[in-house]
Amino acid sequence: MTFSDYRVAVVTGATSGVGRGAIDLFLSKGLTVHAIARDESRLAELAGKGVITHALNVRDTAALTRELAGVEADIVLNSAGVSRAGNILSSSAEDLDDLVEVNLTAVMQILRLLYPGMVERDRGHVLNISSIAGHYNFFGHTAYHATKAAVHQLSRQLRNDAMGKRVRVTELSPGRIETEIFSRNLGGTPETDAEAWATYYEGFESLTVDDVVAAIEFAVDAPSHVNIGLVELMPTFQVPGGLTFDRRDQDAALQGAK
Ligand SMILES: NC(=O)c1ccc[n+]([C@@H]2O[C@H](COP(=O)([O-])OP(=O)(O)OC[C@H]3O[C@@H](n4cnc5c(N)ncnc54)[C@H](OP(=O)(O)O)[C@@H]3O)[C@@H](O)[C@H]2O)c1
Repeated sequence: MTFSDYRVAVVTGATSGVGRGAIDLFLSKGLTVHAIARDESRLAELAGKGVITHALNVRDTAALTRELAGVEADIVLNSAGVSRAGNILSSSAEDLDDLVEVNLTAVMQILRLLYPGMVERDRGHVLNISSIAGHYNFFGHTAYHATKAAVHQLSRQLRNDAMGKRVRVTELSPGRIETEIFSRNLGGTPETDAEAWATYYEGFESLTVDDVVAAIEFAVDAPSHVNIGLVELMPTFQVPGGLTFDRRDQDAALQGAK
């Protein structure tokens, strides 16, 4: 199966980052694109390009159910995602709800609504954006890691649910990508954009949205008998691994260093 076999794409996280980049790809392939996000002015820009827009919070299952009724999706890209600074020690109740409901529950609700149609029509491709946080342990928000690990397992399990059908599932697991996600953690203002850029991107060769979109194109354009199940993309200079061991005797360590 290639792009020419598909007619309709549904994209979450449509107004920024990976989702926004993928919309340009899908439009260039002649697909009808449904875009889901909250920012109405950015959605209006997409509408100007012929995209069908759905302004909603993906945590609102009733709105998702209403807006996606009757949509026969061939491609579903689940890109909407949030992260948080800190970890479970500093988390608010709202942080946990947002992380779980945006990163995981919404993905499952969207699939509940659109996946049965793909299976019935014997045609479709789900692309879920997880993260290296779902595969490796490193310092970051514990709940974010947990949601992304769940997206990994969900992506695997979807393959069983469509057994015998020409429905493919690809998990894309990126390392750091240059997007707005870190600025949003800091407040999502022009000032935090600059702060996030200086902290997370300046001086690093991170992935770009185009890098991830190229992987999406590769996965969708694979022949129909090929399911590219998992694509891990990392910046060359970002490496997972390392084992942390908190030394108890700090004084002895300092003495030894003298
Ligand atoms: N950037 C990275 O370094 C990185 C690394 C690994 C994985 N990822 C994953 O990649 C995916 C895309 O992230 P990104 O970096 O492209 O992020 P981004 O630039 O911050 O974009 C996030 C998108 O999600 C939408 N969104 C967030 N909360 C929403 C909600 N409650 N309801 C509806 N839409 C919502 C936002 O739209 P509105 O604000 O308009 O609603 C926006 O379009 C995420 O799943 C993220 O976890 C990112």
